[in-house]
Amino acid sequence: MPSKFPPLKELVPAYINKIEPYIPSKPDDILKQMYNCSFLYRMNNNENVLGPPPKALEAIRSFLPERAAIYPSGDAYHLRQRLGEIYGLSPDSFIVGNGANEVIAFVIKAFCQQGDNIITADKTFAVYEWVADFSGFESRLVPLKDYGFDDEAMLAAVDKRTKIIFVCNPNNPTGSYWNEEKLRAFLDRVNGRQIVVVDEAYAEFAEAEDFPNAMQLIDEYPNLVVFRTFSKMYALAALRIGYLAGNLDIVDVIRRTCIVYSVNVLAQEAAIAALEDDGGHIKRTKALIKESKEYLKKELESMGLHYVSGEGNYIMIRLPFSDTLAYRKLMNLGYMVRTMTGFRYPNYIRVTLNSLSVMEGFVRALRKII
Ligand SMILES: Cc1ncc(COP(=O)(O)O)c(C=O)c1O
Repeated sequence: MPSKFPPLKELVPAYINKIEPYIPSKPDDILKQMYNCSFLYRMNNNENVLGPPPKALEAIRSFLPERAAIYPSGDAYHLRQRLGEIYGLSPDSFIVGNGANEVIAFVIKAFCQQGDNIITADKTFAVYEWVADFSGFESRLVPLKDYGFDDEAMLAAVDKRTKIIFVCNPNNPTGSYWNEEKLRAFLDRVNGRQIVVVDEAYAEFAEAEDFPNAMQLIDEYPNLVVFRTFSKMYALAALRIGYLAGNLDIVDVIRRTCIVYSVNVLAQEAAIAALEDDGGHIKRTKALIKESKEYLKKELESMGLHYVSGEGNYIMIRLPFSDTLAYRKLMNLGYMVRTMTGFRYPNYIRVTLNSLSVMEGFVRALRKII
């Protein structure tokens, strides 16, 4: 009997029909069965192996389960007060989201309408591109130059319908960065015509002396929006909390598109506690990353493997065979890496730096599969 309903595809916008859903990795118990491995190190999401700072752990442990019945602060009131004090900005300069991922969507929804475009790089964190695409806006992807964002080419790609330019600093996955001089020169040339988002998800890992702090440029550049997350350095990835900061006028516009109550109370309280850390957590994490990065680079050189490494807690490695094959083989040995074909780097994997002993195990596994 013919259906009385029209086909589903008639309801679906053409730009959605073109999109392939992102399939996240399965939980550890399922993966261990699938790949027949007794242990599994997740080195695919750039998490911090040291876990949350001690004060954040305390905050999580002391959470009274009965409080689960009550909605959280809808706009992360106390966290925004604290961020305001830390960065010398008004608490109203911040919007806290369910991970930095959520604030990406807030900004795009706030500024883009049909026919508009956003600009970013071809090989960078893909969520800027994805949110634009599945919202029906054009994403203009400018090729990286020497593994870094190409300022000139990005400016050349701007037209009257460009609303937002996303710069990932340092870049995930290449670790390249713009220093303050380059960032300022770019902002000067954009001259307020577009919103410039600087995504500093990995800023706390930066070792380079001239790595900029875009937060300090907000007063000077009213079109600048900065992203930060608690998922990486502060190791609160499971709680999903990140934020944006910008000039009060911009944030007032973005706030209109944001979903209040999307950030749970445990995340808000753990984030406040994480910020109380005396610097010991960041210091320990940076020391671990430095040691593991140096070790892995040396090993890769001795194996004759090309790698791309800069700031951040990850390294990209080129393999002499397909990254998906490498993924499967490494999974069988208990190491989960990120395949890079989706980032337009076929045959590359991205590896999150872990403790030295785990990196030694990973290197043994890598030698075995090669
Ligand atoms: C560059 C960059 N920005 C933003 C995010 C999103 O972070 P979250 O949603 O966990 O806060 C990530 C996560 O991997 C990232 O790599």
